[in-house]
Amino acid sequence: MKKLHSYLLATIVILCCACTDNKPKHIIGVSQCSEDIWRSWQNSEMKMEAAFHEGVELRFTSAYDNSERQSQQIDSLVKSGIDLLIVAPNQLTSVSPAIDRAFDKGIPVIVFERKTDSQKYTAFVSADNYEMGWMMGEYIESRLNGKGNVIEILGLKGSSPADERHKGFTNALRGSDLKVVSTLQGDWSEETSYQKVKQWLAGHKDVKVDYVFGQNDRMAMGARKAFREVGLSPYFCGIDGLPGENGGIQLVRDSLLDASYIYPTRGDQLLQIALDILEGKPFKKETMLTSAIVTRDNANVLLLESEEVVRQAQRLERMNQQASTYLHQLSTQRIINVLSVVLIVMMLAFIVIFYLYHLQKARLADERNRMEREQLDFYTQVSHELRTPLTLIEGPLEQISQTKEAKEASAETKGLIAILRRNTQQLTDIINKMLDAQTAIGNTKAAMSEALTDLPVETPPLPSAEPSQQADNATILIVDDNADIRAYLRSILQGTYQVNEAADGQQGLALANEIVPDLIISDVMMPVMNGLEFCQRVKGGTATSHIPVILLTARALSQHQIEGYESGADAYITKPFSAELLMARISNLLRSRLQLKNLFGNTEDNTKEPAAADEAPATEREVAEPAITDTFLLKFRDFIEKNMSDSDLNVETIGAELGLSRVQLYRKMKALTGQSPVELLRTARLQKGRQLLQTSGKTISEIAYEVGFTAPSYFTKCFKDEFGISPSDL
Ligand code: FRU
Repeated sequence: MKKLHSYLLATIVILCCACTDNKPKHIIGVSQCSEDIWRSWQNSEMKMEAAFHEGVELRFTSAYDNSERQSQQIDSLVKSGIDLLIVAPNQLTSVSPAIDRAFDKGIPVIVFERKTDSQKYTAFVSADNYEMGWMMGEYIESRLNGKGNVIEILGLKGSSPADERHKGFTNALRGSDLKVVSTLQGDWSEETSYQKVKQWLAGHKDVKVDYVFGQNDRMAMGARKAFREVGLSPYFCGIDGLPGENGGIQLVRDSLLDASYIYPTRGDQLLQIALDILEGKPFKKETMLTSAIVTRDNANVLLLESEEVVRQAQRLERMNQQASTYLHQLSTQRIINVLSVVLIVMMLAFIVIFYLYHLQKARLADERNRMEREQLDFYTQVSHELRTPLTLIEGPLEQISQTKEAKEASAETKGLIAILRRNTQQLTDIINKMLDAQTAIGNTKAAMSEALTDLPVETPPLPSAEPSQQADNATILIVDDNADIRAYLRSILQGTYQVNEAADGQQGLALANEIVPDLIISDVMMPVMNGLEFCQRVKGGTATSHIPVILLTARALSQHQIEGYESGADAYITKPFSAELLMARISNLLRSRLQLKNLFGNTEDNTKEPAAADEAPATEREVAEPAITDTFLLKFRDFIEKNMSDSDLNVETIGAELGLSRVQLYRKMKALTGQSPVELLRTARLQKGRQLLQTSGKTISEIAYEVGFTAPSYFTKCFKDEFGISPSDL
């Protein structure tokens, strides 16, 4: 169970990790040589493009125009685990070793915009810087109509664009009348350019300058500042032509610069090439970006276009942000879904395990119960086998020891009899203990023994000194499959009672219906029909329901006794039993049978409960009859009362009405009331006659016929016999 829990927990953790796993597919390092508006623009283009591709992480560094710093940054990027390096080398040679190191480690390298002197790169992306220099030279020549003085401000020394732009520019002017009065060394920054131009102007006050070519827009603007400070306004042009606020295009439109050249940033294209390389798609090793000159003529249009591009870019950015919000929500939702599924699966698994566990428990309990039952049955069987012969030793031994011969026997014989009795008793005790121990093991419910304490007590009071009148003539039916037990019982009973025998429940039932005995003693474990069923059927039969039944059995356990009482038994005696005890129990049962002496004596009152003793006068209390609750007796009385005027009414008719034979009716009524049906019928008629004599005013003859006598003289005779007075006395 515990193991299962840890498995389920581990599954959840793994699933959660899987759901929240944001590990990028591609890590791309971008090493910029400078930090300026052109680079910022390019970086944001790369970021925007990356947002359209899942799992791309960009790591940016800027060397602030320092080659040594850039080399270190490249090494650090490689160390951090990038999958590809995009690098704009500050200078042609100084950064190359670091780039080579990255390349040698198997990291694809894209060199862009500025060149390296090494061949160790995967792809190169740039615009044509030579052509840019050339185009600007040609433009200036046409602007100045082929004549005038020009200054060129160079970019950082050693950086490839500075070199190539210079070459293009110089070649364009070759053969023209334009004169390059100075070539100043800048470093791509506005400030250096301003300082350099300012310094030059201070030393060349007499030189007239018509045009200043800055190799980028920022340097052109620095030069412009210096010239304006000394009140001069030649033309200025630069390169970059960036869109947006204070970008080159706006500077041209606002006539701060005379011209510029769009130096494409194309961060999006750069990233796309990087992804193609990483994903093994085809790519071009050298990519030349196309470009265009910006002059007063097209600046406005280009600016509008660039503004639109910016707007679109911003829109895309917003959409991108929205998309990433949705994606985030989606991934949260996914986690919740997965967790819910896991939870449901866990719950289901738990329910199934719980169910199986209980099923198994119930199965084991059933199995245990079955085994206990089998064990109990086995012990019961064994004890039965032992108890019966034990009874047949103990009983006769008891009888022998009571005989005259035994009493007069020698001390030695008496001693032997005592040994026999002691050991028989010991054997009985051992069997009892064995069964008791078994009962405890078999977990006999405490409730059973509790229930048993409410049942009639096993040991009956000892018989009264004088056996009752009834007991003398009583008939007892013995039902037992063991002939020895029957013989032994007969030997005990036959001096006092009339004894009948049957060998099983079925025979017993037939005999009971036939002879309607006064009491039945029955074994429980018998072939054909066992004692419990037999007892039930005796108690359920009209002719036999009143007969007391004693179950005499080896089944000594509490639950067996409960079963016995539930079947309707009046007493339950276990083997081996004492003959004296059995006789006492029989006598007691016979005496305590409810006998209604006066079924018709007081027809008004004896169907009701007797009055409480302290309310009734003493004399009434003494004669009070118990209420007639027996439905059979009530039926009998009602039928007689309704039909007594019929002088032909006889015992057969009454028996037929009540579903009994003549004999059955006789035996049953005798047992219940002590009177025969004929006697009861006569008593009923006389009682009614007496009542009519006292209340009706009819003549004796009329009354005699009314209560079913055929002759008034016979009525008078019987009346005298019954009440001791003549009807005429009333
Ligand atoms: C940006 C920049 C541009 C210039 C280019 C040359 O860092 O200075 O202004 O055109 O680099 O590489």
